[in-house]
Amino acid sequence: MCGIVGALLKSGSVTEGLIDGLSVLEYRGYDSAGVAIVHDGGVSVRKKRGRLANLEEALGDGAFLGALAGIGHTRWATHGEPSDANAHPHTGRSGKLAVVHNGIIENYIELKRELLNEGESFSSETDTEVLTRYIDRLWVEEGGDEAALVRAIRGVLPRVTGYYALAVLAQTPTGPVLLAIRKGPPLVVGVTEDGGYLSSDQLGVLPYTRNVVFLEDSDIALIGPGRLDVVDASGQPVTREARAIEWDPSDSGKGDYPHHMLKEIHEQPDVIARTAFDRIDLGAGDVRFEGGAFDDDFCRSIERIQILACGTALHAGQIASYLIEGLAGIPVDFDFASEFRYRNPRLVHGTVALAITQSGETADTLAATRLARELGARTAAICNVAGSTQVRESEATILTHAGPEIGVASTKAFTAQVVAATLLAIRLARGRGVLHEHKAREILEELRMIRPKVESLLTDAAIARCREVAQQHAGKRGFLFLGRGVNFPVALEGALKLKEIAYVHAEGYAAGEMKHGPIALIDTDMAILVINAEGKVAEKTRANIEQVKARGGVTISVGSDAASHAIAASSIPVPATSEWLSPILNSIPLQLVAYHIAEIHGCDIDKPRNLAKSVTVE
Ligand code: AGP
Repeated sequence: MCGIVGALLKSGSVTEGLIDGLSVLEYRGYDSAGVAIVHDGGVSVRKKRGRLANLEEALGDGAFLGALAGIGHTRWATHGEPSDANAHPHTGRSGKLAVVHNGIIENYIELKRELLNEGESFSSETDTEVLTRYIDRLWVEEGGDEAALVRAIRGVLPRVTGYYALAVLAQTPTGPVLLAIRKGPPLVVGVTEDGGYLSSDQLGVLPYTRNVVFLEDSDIALIGPGRLDVVDASGQPVTREARAIEWDPSDSGKGDYPHHMLKEIHEQPDVIARTAFDRIDLGAGDVRFEGGAFDDDFCRSIERIQILACGTALHAGQIASYLIEGLAGIPVDFDFASEFRYRNPRLVHGTVALAITQSGETADTLAATRLARELGARTAAICNVAGSTQVRESEATILTHAGPEIGVASTKAFTAQVVAATLLAIRLARGRGVLHEHKAREILEELRMIRPKVESLLTDAAIARCREVAQQHAGKRGFLFLGRGVNFPVALEGALKLKEIAYVHAEGYAAGEMKHGPIALIDTDMAILVINAEGKVAEKTRANIEQVKARGGVTISVGSDAASHAIAASSIPVPATSEWLSPILNSIPLQLVAYHIAEIHGCDIDKPRNLAKSVTVE
């Protein structure tokens, strides 16, 4: 939530790069955008409510061109409504210092009161302005140079409760200074001979260098051309190694697609192949993870798995729970990370906490995993961002190779998580000696052959079918998604996709639970999508379709079970595969139906209202 960028250049003009950086980070929040540059011996700010385009328009006079240093911000509002005044950057009274912030200063009211008593005034309702004024006052008191700024920040931070990624820009007597400070939310730095760059994620730095530094908690970094000076919490200089990033900066574009979401849906055949194929050892009927992770000893030592995740990633986690229990026989619990961390959880000896997260920076997932570690669990992660906090803090990681996911609604990252979970379940089962080689090989062969099946769901004809279903039902009062077994979480995910991008009320439900309440909702104005794959629960789910029909409900069957298509009012057929792998295929038409309903309703598909991609605050 909130994206921040900053740069200090040797020569040239910083503003264009800041705007490019913000356009890449806009998925993190889009309530307002702003930039500050060093200018005429001080700092100048332009900021605008709403999308980045409004800021670009405000910068149209060219007055911000030619500065060597600047910072920028794209906001997901926490304190204070989206407005020009509440937009970042915020400035100090000195007129020589500006700050952008991602996070929350929890004790800002107390700090604000103190500063008000000392005669300070404020022009916004934000927590960030309080912090900015505080730093600025101390900086001026300390002498107003570079060293004074580091001292001021080190003096203020112990008084602050909360989480922050901060970029501080100041004009000192010896020139502009750019600082990056991190506690909680991510901050990535890249340094070349031409400039020093910071960003909330690697996408903002990749246009300049593929060698990026992920700052650690409590780091304070001075950044400039050829310069990265970091001190840790105790004020000691530390070295933070750069890590080479594989992502191509062009991966974050839309290509020829109207929306990132549609592009990302279409990338799924590649993503699934990248995540799975090199890890499959068909000869041995087994899975090999990089660096020998999840070896036999590790697999045998696990008594229980606690899955921790949020939103879509938790739906992947629920699928993982069916796979791991079903194939490896390990008891699995799953929980919303936000619930786990506050419910006084009890973990048995031998628990592995498995975090599932696209970004690797979700605040609740990180906190829940840390708590699990404190309670004695070992930690593992399924994650899409190498170098993210979640990966750095986990003992074992399975990377999903989905590439950057920009659309706020997760699609390719979800299917990649499900693929990774499938591989993990098989490795655990093989490592514990509970799944016969030929059985494992059967599933892995199916997975090896899944690519053309995924592609068949993305042909013009297949997409047209999803669009047709969307057109038929877009006006319905509500949607119910039903599924059983491993396809129950697929139903939850289908409903979430529709809610978040089309703003339509939708419920995901276990098909067998329908009779215990939701059946009362059913009438002709409710569309019921039933996800049903060939397999052991297909017949039971078919019975649910009949029950819905008997009450006048409009049924759409999605999946490989032909008998369901024969009885449902309409259908979206999906190729047959192993029941264990069916969630990968069944999710795709649901993504497309949600996409087209959102399109029909004229929604902002890549940037749904009120949402942000990476939830780095509680
Ligand atoms: C889903 O479309 C959402 N973007 C959201 O539920 C997301 O999956 C959740 O916030 C978790 O994010 P993470 O995978 O980065 O941890």
